[in-house]
Amino acid sequence: MVSAKLFALAALAAVASASPCKPPVLTLPSTGGTSDLAAPPANDVVKRIAIGHGIQNYTCNSALSPTASATGALAVLYDATPLYPGTPKTGLKQAAWDTLPSTALWGSPLPLNLAVPGGYAANETNPFPAPADLVLGNMAPIKFLGHHYFAADTTPTFDLSAIGLKASVLKNDTRPAPATADKGILGTGAVAWVLLRDPGLGRSIGIDTVYRVVVAGGAAQPCSVTGDGHFSVPYATFYWFYGPK
Ligand SMILES: *[C@@H]1O[C@H](CO)[C@@H](O)[C@H](O)[C@H]1NC(C)=O
Ligand SMILES: *[C@@H]1O[C@H](CO)[C@@H](O)[C@H](O)[C@H]1NC(C)=O
Ligand SMILES: *[C@@H]1O[C@H](CO)[C@@H](O)[C@H](O)[C@H]1NC(C)=O
Repeated sequence: MVSAKLFALAALAAVASASPCKPPVLTLPSTGGTSDLAAPPANDVVKRIAIGHGIQNYTCNSALSPTASATGALAVLYDATPLYPGTPKTGLKQAAWDTLPSTALWGSPLPLNLAVPGGYAANETNPFPAPADLVLGNMAPIKFLGHHYFAADTTPTFDLSAIGLKASVLKNDTRPAPATADKGILGTGAVAWVLLRDPGLGRSIGIDTVYRVVVAGGAAQPCSVTGDGHFSVPYATFYWFYGPK
């Protein structure tokens, strides 16, 4: 009895000393594959880690190809930074953190104005509802951070309107998602992990590098299933935003 109590106290002490009141080192996830996406620029720091929840857009023209082509994406961004494991008071356990995109994908409705109730396509003219925090089970609400969309010239854009930062970036490199990745609501698989970089056009604010990692879902259905035309597939992911100190 006494020794069990001592053991419990020792365990508490160990937890306490492992959680000093300083922020953890934020380490970009690895696919576990033979090579990873390139590291961020040496002088960059993590500006935010977001959960993105939304849709990947595709179009099929079966006369040209049996495979859909990617045409863009729309997502709402939430600030997951305080949930990073080891963050004093608010950090999640590693396993809960690692599955957070999956939890958002399955545990929360698509945060978009849908074209048809129960579908996955968004309203073409008015896709985003008023900003709202992400509520997942009994966790504290995860703060609204901004929107991901493709600009009129098709440039992937992340408007972190809640904190006044912005990324207008181009795809630089990809790695296939790990085989263990969540295949998503339609069971189609997870879209690739991506590195996007600012091309120097002066459209970004405070961010020059973006990673899409730990993706759940988002891969296209075959054109034989969808028929010709546009369609959207739900996904959730982490976006890691880096910029100069
Ligand atoms: C899309 O949003 C616009 C503007 O709010 C609305 O007028 C229109 O009816 C919506 N379309 C659909 C298909 O819900
Ligand atoms: C994606 O498709 C939705 C319809 O589901 C549309 O509202 C949106 O404008 C499209 N966005 C991009 C970037 O393709
Ligand atoms: C990716 O970024 C690196 C470093 O900036 C650059 O050298 C390379 O040309 C880029 N590749 C593509 C495909 O954009």
